[in-house]
Amino acid sequence: MMKKLFIFVFIFLGLNVVNGCPFFLSKYFVNIHSSIHNDNVTLRCQSKDDDLGSHVLSPNNDYEWSFCQSFSRATLFFCHFWWNNNEQIFDVFNSTMGEWCREGRPEGDICRWLVREDGFYFYEPIEYGRWLKQYYWKPVSKTSLTYG
Ligand SMILES: *[C@@H]1O[C@H](CO)[C@@H](O)[C@H](O)[C@H]1NC(C)=O
Ligand SMILES: *[C@@H]1O[C@H](CO)[C@@H](O)[C@H](O)[C@H]1NC(C)=O
Repeated sequence: MMKKLFIFVFIFLGLNVVNGCPFFLSKYFVNIHSSIHNDNVTLRCQSKDDDLGSHVLSPNNDYEWSFCQSFSRATLFFCHFWWNNNEQIFDVFNSTMGEWCREGRPEGDICRWLVREDGFYFYEPIEYGRWLKQYYWKPVSKTSLTYG
């Protein structure tokens, strides 16, 4: 009896944990690429539960992480960006954007952001198939001169 139960539980978990997420949760990647020439961008991304910490993104490089969309679909990540006395803060992933990131990898969908001198672009793969500008940089405010 115990042995059967054990085997059942094992198969259940084994079949459904494909990409590190339980079968009822979707996996997403957030990918942030900087094409700012000759300068680093500092960013700090967070969700309600996770602080990914401060990260230096160098030119033509990517910063990427993945997560399992919570069952309530309430997962939200926001990032604070700093570059050359400019900053910006916005949501890089929420459940609505999740629907717009249908461009996939076998393990999950990717939400792509591009950081440029003139602002921030989101890649919309379905309706437009191109980068759409979403935000401008703004001058650093006195209250947030330090990273974090
Ligand atoms: C960008 O960051 C890298 C790694 O932290 C550092 O080696 C490099 O000097 C930085 N470049 C600039 C332009 O600040
Ligand atoms: C997610 O963000 C987008 C873009 O800012 C916004 O239009 C949408 O209403 C947000 N969705 C949720 C569930 O907050």
